Amino acid sequence: MHIEDKRIVVTGGAGFIGSHLVDRLVADNDLLVVDDGSNGEREWVHDDAEFLGGDLTDEAVVADAITAETDLVVHLAASKLVDTDMPRRQFTDNSEITYNVLERMDEVGVEKLVFTSSSTVYGEAPRPTPEDYAPLEPISVYGATKLAEESLISTYAHSHDLQSWVFRFANIVGPRLRGAVIPDFVEKLREDPESLTILGDGRQEKSYMHVSECLDAMVYAVEHADADHNVFNLGTRTTTSVDRIADIVADEMGLDPAYEHTGGDRGWTGDVPRMRLSIEKLAGLGWEPDQSSDDAVRQSARELIEEL
Ligand SMILES: NC(=O)c1ccc[n+]([C@@H]2O[C@H](COP(=O)([O-])OP(=O)(O)OC[C@H]3O[C@@H](n4cnc5c(N)ncnc54)[C@H](O)[C@@H]3O)[C@@H](O)[C@H]2O)c1
Repeated sequence: MHIEDKRIVVTGGAGFIGSHLVDRLVADNDLLVVDDGSNGEREWVHDDAEFLGGDLTDEAVVADAITAETDLVVHLAASKLVDTDMPRRQFTDNSEITYNVLERMDEVGVEKLVFTSSSTVYGEAPRPTPEDYAPLEPISVYGATKLAEESLISTYAHSHDLQSWVFRFANIVGPRLRGAVIPDFVEKLREDPESLTILGDGRQEKSYMHVSECLDAMVYAVEHADADHNVFNLGTRTTTSVDRIADIVADEMGLDPAYEHTGGDRGWTGDVPRMRLSIEKLAGLGWEPDQSSDDAVRQSARELIEEL
């Protein structure tokens, strides 16, 4: 499907990735953002996009947003905390929003859905992890909600008239990122330039991808893959350790702090300490990231030092 002259509903479009997606698509499409403001910022939503404030667990909000005129729904709205103190709420809300979106799309005949899933569906799997790796055994409620939502989407794709593109993201970074390791290090080092406390042993090692490359890859996959249910990993080919992220952030800030590590080999319960996704499936379709994981971290560190 070519993404031009389309009426697109972006759930969670005031958030980090959603707001960048809107910036990318708004010139050539008609966009409606739906967001309850639980995270993200209203001011990040492009002026040329329509905005509907509301909680998508409410079917009436979903009905207002998705109509027979909608061509495509990009569904990003979710609680994304891996260490949430409200796991039941996270599980029920995330799953319910996806159920509401799918039911409403079916009701009014909207047939194209993009969904943002996560590497957390794989749990602690061998690396690089391909899309067809099994068994899928998440180790956090967040990962479990993503797997449950993917299962629902697969059901509608195979038994109803839905075409879906599911993206399992590595760690996406860039401007507007909040509550994650790079902005946390920037803020901690602003408070104390001499020392930095690092959760875990610093050797946790994951793949980071810049949001601009993530959006390039999503658009490419939607425009080039046309199975009923398309599942793609999105990430870079390399990884960056937490200590290396600290080195990069400190270097970009012109600092040389002492590191203090707390805890064991993972940052928090449910954290997958080592993650790298196979991106061969998308590469086979013709798309490769230009950046390494370290490049993505450095670019984002620069952008966030400027922004925060
Ligand atoms: N950032 C990453 O590295 C990453 C990695 C894997 C997957 N993802 C997924 O990508 C999507 C976007 O992530 P993000 O980093 O931009 O997160 P984000 O929190 O910045 O954006 C999510 C948006 O959804 C909105 N939202 C949440 N619950 C809602 C509700 N009930 N009704 C309406 N709006 C609601 C929030 O207000 C927020 O603006 C999420 O689904 C997330 O799970 C992100």
